[in-house]
Amino acid sequence: MSRPVPVDVVVIGAGAAGLMCAIEAGRRGRRVVVLDHARAPGEKIRISGGGRCNFTNRDAAPRNYLSANPGFAISALRRYTAQDFIARMDRRGIAWHEKTLGQLFCDGSARQVVDMLTDDLREAGGELRLSTAVTGIERTADGFTVATVNGTLASTSLVIACGGKSIPKMGATGFGYEVAERFGLALQPTRPGLVPLTLDPALLERLGPLAGVAVEARVSHGKGRNETRFEEGLLFTHRGLSGPAILQISSFWREGDEIALALAPGTDLFARLREARAAHGRQSPATALATLLPKRLAQLIAEREAGAVNLADLSDKALRRIDEAVNGWRLKPTGSEGYRTAEVTLGGVDTAGLDSRTLEARAVPGLYFVGEVVDVTGWLGGYNFQWAWSSGWVAGQVA
Ligand code: FDA
Repeated sequence: MSRPVPVDVVVIGAGAAGLMCAIEAGRRGRRVVVLDHARAPGEKIRISGGGRCNFTNRDAAPRNYLSANPGFAISALRRYTAQDFIARMDRRGIAWHEKTLGQLFCDGSARQVVDMLTDDLREAGGELRLSTAVTGIERTADGFTVATVNGTLASTSLVIACGGKSIPKMGATGFGYEVAERFGLALQPTRPGLVPLTLDPALLERLGPLAGVAVEARVSHGKGRNETRFEEGLLFTHRGLSGPAILQISSFWREGDEIALALAPGTDLFARLREARAAHGRQSPATALATLLPKRLAQLIAEREAGAVNLADLSDKALRRIDEAVNGWRLKPTGSEGYRTAEVTLGGVDTAGLDSRTLEARAVPGLYFVGEVVDVTGWLGGYNFQWAWSSGWVAGQVA
């Protein structure tokens, strides 16, 4: 092994969390090196939000995150808030807009966010080493040595910011989890989150004509006090269901669970169909439904539930059946599309082993875990980047 080059902080992972942490540590005068095996930094930032990066959510709060310890994120999210990141964007002059539900996107390109972070890192004196795979990590008396394909570094602090397993094609690895285990930290089981759900072939065949149809829907999972529901867009696909409402619920769904769909939420469909029957008895059920639903969806449900009849031919019981098919549809997805398309990885480094104010491993002074590798996962809508900024920022104050 070559003689280790001494630095203060080594950050593994040049994504949102790692860059934020490195900038903050650099601003405190620490000598920081960020390592990444990818050829470019912030690749997930670049492709996020359809290339416009949903960089935060104006209303980000702990309730928008899943974790075995739901209170863990409170401290970091309070110390570095969505407003703090918005102010950073404003100082840099990056124009943005609110799309919906507090979700903030760049007006221009996500690249602006990557450029801001890499410029800030340079100004803070931090060094970025790309295409640099880590080949070994050892703990020493006063810190760590990190061996890479391009030489070895010795540091007092080591920050693990290498994200989750989602989208392996983009360089995602389980490396952060391996490091955690190596140092004796516990892991919460990992699984894909914010991911399209798949349906069984028989149901898919029936729904085949709907591929590409989108509808505003309410999707729920669980019952009573454990019920979680989202009212957002739903998209029928060739494999099953996607769209924001499905991605949201996928993080709560477990194999074997049912989900409930309301495709015309907030509408008393039975009352609407009775009115239509009274006023336009010769109308077909499909035409009546098409006032509320996309035409192809209306047709499929009407044909299945009523056949080729007029509204006048349908009893109250038949209208209730249509109502139930639209707003009380329960189904069991067979699975998800997995890490290949998941936006995030649920689970990860167990927060019980981390200090919530600093993200430092309790049992390994100087070792930090930030961003998605930690068992804190946000809803869809800018919450995951906010966790990356907040967790990276707090670690950067002390690493
Ligand atoms: P991130 O994954 O960003 O960075 C990890 C870095 O570590 C990568 O650069 C990787 O190359 C590197 N790395 C991994 N293994 C390594 C190893 N062994 N050695 C060296 N380096 C290694 N969130 C949101 O809030 N708004 C949005 O609009 C979107 N949109 C979106 C779209 C798509 C397609 C995806 C896949 C995800 C999103 N997300 C999102 C989620 C968001 O991208 C994600 O939560 C953050 O990028 C997590 O930031 P991290 O810095 O923790 O990991």
